[in-house]
Amino acid sequence: MEYIYQEGLQTAPPLLLLHGTGGDEHSLIDLASALSPNSTVLSLRGRVSEAGANRFFRRFAEGQFDLVDLEVQTDYLLAFLIEFSDIHNIALYDWVVVGYSNGANIGAHLLLERMESPNRGIFFHGMSLGKHEADFDLAKKSVWFSAGINDPIVPQEATKALVDAFQMRHGQTDVLWTKQGHQLTYEEVASAKEWLATKG
Ligand code: MLT
Repeated sequence: MEYIYQEGLQTAPPLLLLHGTGGDEHSLIDLASALSPNSTVLSLRGRVSEAGANRFFRRFAEGQFDLVDLEVQTDYLLAFLIEFSDIHNIALYDWVVVGYSNGANIGAHLLLERMESPNRGIFFHGMSLGKHEADFDLAKKSVWFSAGINDPIVPQEATKALVDAFQMRHGQTDVLWTKQGHQLTYEEVASAKEWLATKG
């Protein structure tokens, strides 16, 4: 996997960055500095290409996800993260998964569907992918979400379904709704930063 690794202070939470469709490992680096400037950062590039646009799992069309590939890529991502965490002496549970859009979608799927996975997530403009199978308790997981009520790509119901999937299994959730669309806004970054400071 292509990635950027920046070692930070052990006193700050390590951040795993997962970009949106068409991004790469550079896309969320500034966001990570804004959220927590002293954190160790691992920023991955999605290894699926959609007509040249990097993604973390395949889709057939917008909103039509390849759920078989989703599982394959989630397993691959987790195996990579476990190995990387071992080498760098970082506890798997300590990572805060920070995802935007497609990155939020695979990140949230990882926390929901793999028992051995990080405990915290910050998911900008994520949505339920409609595949919720695991039933282990999520009481240890703490997740922050943001969504725009005018987002043309992510329907409000799909974000609500994602939040519900965590809440139904006792995950701790915080949600910020903005009046914006699919873009990441300053308001969201400021709110996520505040949340991370209390959870970090
Ligand atoms: C996805 O494909 O995961 C979502 O539709 C969002 C995106 O376009 O990345």
